[in-house]
Amino acid sequence: MIESMAGLHRSHGCGELRAEDTGKEVTLMGWVHRRRDHGGLIFIDLRDRSGLVQVVCDPEAGPAFKKAEEVRNEYVVAVTGRVRPRPEGTANPKLATGTIEVEARKLRILNRAKTPPFYIEDNIDVDEALRLRYRYLDLRRPEMQSIMYLRYRTTRAIRDFLDSRGFWEIETPMLTRSTPEGARDFLVPSRLRPGEFFALPQSPQLFKQILMVAGIERYFQIVRCFRDEDLRADRQPEFTQLDMEMSFIQREDILNLVEELMAHVFRETLGIELTLPLPRLTYQEAMARFGSDKPDLRFGLEITDVSDLVRGCGFKVFADAAARGGVVRGLCVPGGASFSRRELDELTRAAAVFGAKGLAWMAVTAEGIRSPIAKFFTGQELQDLVARMGGKEGDLLLFVADSEAVAATALGSLRLELGRRLHLYEPEQLAFTWVTDFPLLEYSPEEKRYVAVHHPFTMPMEEDWPLLDTEPLKVRALAYDLVLNGVELGGGSIRIHRRDIQEKMFSLLGFSPDEAREKFGFLLEAFEYGTPPHGGIAFGLDRMIMIMARRDTIRDCIAFPKTQSGTCLMTAAPSTVAPEQLLELHLKTTARPAGKLSSAGKA
Ligand code: AMO
Ligand code: AMP
Repeated sequence: MIESMAGLHRSHGCGELRAEDTGKEVTLMGWVHRRRDHGGLIFIDLRDRSGLVQVVCDPEAGPAFKKAEEVRNEYVVAVTGRVRPRPEGTANPKLATGTIEVEARKLRILNRAKTPPFYIEDNIDVDEALRLRYRYLDLRRPEMQSIMYLRYRTTRAIRDFLDSRGFWEIETPMLTRSTPEGARDFLVPSRLRPGEFFALPQSPQLFKQILMVAGIERYFQIVRCFRDEDLRADRQPEFTQLDMEMSFIQREDILNLVEELMAHVFRETLGIELTLPLPRLTYQEAMARFGSDKPDLRFGLEITDVSDLVRGCGFKVFADAAARGGVVRGLCVPGGASFSRRELDELTRAAAVFGAKGLAWMAVTAEGIRSPIAKFFTGQELQDLVARMGGKEGDLLLFVADSEAVAATALGSLRLELGRRLHLYEPEQLAFTWVTDFPLLEYSPEEKRYVAVHHPFTMPMEEDWPLLDTEPLKVRALAYDLVLNGVELGGGSIRIHRRDIQEKMFSLLGFSPDEAREKFGFLLEAFEYGTPPHGGIAFGLDRMIMIMARRDTIRDCIAFPKTQSGTCLMTAAPSTVAPEQLLELHLKTTARPAGKLSSAGKA
């Protein structure tokens, strides 16, 4: 029989009880985690958000025992009883409440539960699809609750800090025009304006800049963004940014403020003291030394350039690459001389995935260099190579000869692979770095034009302004990313507030004045009314929580995430809609729906 909770008041959380509470009469409410029948006694592990406590139902102690016979896992119950020490030798040191138990006098069944499809406990080996379909059960698990709590404490710490620095949180529209972040938009048809669409914002970029024109000076928002792109472990179609913008500031002010923000957040939530200032790398350095614009600095294994050493050598692949304006670069793998043939083949295949045409290797051994290509080099050349690479006996030198871009990417990826394989870092280390001085533009072969690396409102570095006319690809931007453990946490820039530079930028991007007006007209118009110098940054909150919570995917850090294929298994979204709904929106679909997603609701 299901009973009401009338007249009962929860006195404690299950996980809060300690030895000091011995003797207290308590009322607990929660879920039956487990029920164990020990002949004369029934034990219930009772669970709520605060933790778990053992409840003992003794037929002598009151009517609770009869009810306890009925309960099953995940039943919702209320228990009234007295806290007592556990008998000698039965304490559970793994449980915060492990020295005590509650002797139940009364027990009410507030609700029943079906048998859940998986146990509500940590470290379960359950298919993620099942977890997502029954997300409400998955979220009952302590590890998931602690992530949700961490996320809440993080946003609270962010708000406290930014409030103390004079930032105002302001909301911007979800139904808007396309924003220039470069992904595909999610569109929303307008019923009132047939044939027209809103776009869901990829970020509040244009609005936050307009808020600067509006004199807000210091804005932030913890805001949902939408991007219809291919999903990965650290990408969701809707995700949350911490978005910030400031007026009358320079790059240095933003970097310093963000460092203090991060230090505050890590101290308040995890009790970790970050060492400030955070390291900084220019984009050039990051690419040259780590082969990535989001380098993982938890370990060394840096890339070394040997192009000058091999220019005249007898190994054609190297000499040609160096002569043709390419590079020869390598990694010195500590202890790698003992890699098997198979391991070397695997590394070669891994390098090939990132475009390398080959991977040359040299093992540094007591007898000298062992390598299929050693014969093409003089003794002195080999010595110089080993010295430049810092090779010691037992190490393996790996080389890629290619264009600078391919060599960097291939070796950067190998570096990550080797770092993981050789356990070159502790997973729980935290290694932040800024990457600054990104190129302003890159060339898009598909679109046959320059595109903005960050976005079209990013200010070029003043000393590079003359290059805008001559060598635009060499122009560096006042753009910066914050990277943590090889993950891009956030990115931002100082914005263009001068009309002449903005027009130059649009013309480089191949937008005619009319096209620019069509795309960003409202921003350009606003800019004519007294725009302060300004800049900002945005962080991926989900990614930040992922690293703080030591998870491998942001799906674990979002209460109701989408699958890799962009669907919600719990609600079975997206779904087809009634023909009348389409009619109202003036829409006709040419697609045949892929078929119903199965959900908990309509299995
Ligand atoms: P950007 O496009 O670099 O910059 O995005 C900022 C940060 O948002 C996170 N992020 C994502 N997280 C999860 N899933 C996604 N699909 C996803 N896409 C991006 C990343 C990224 O660093 N308006 C600019 C910021 C600015 O200039 O102020 C912007 O949106 O962590
Ligand atoms: P080959 O002469 O093509 O058999 O190559 C001899 C060695 O050089 C092999 O170990 C190849 O993997 C390596 N190699 C070939 N091309 C490259 C390259 N572009 N960069 C580095 N090593 C290469």
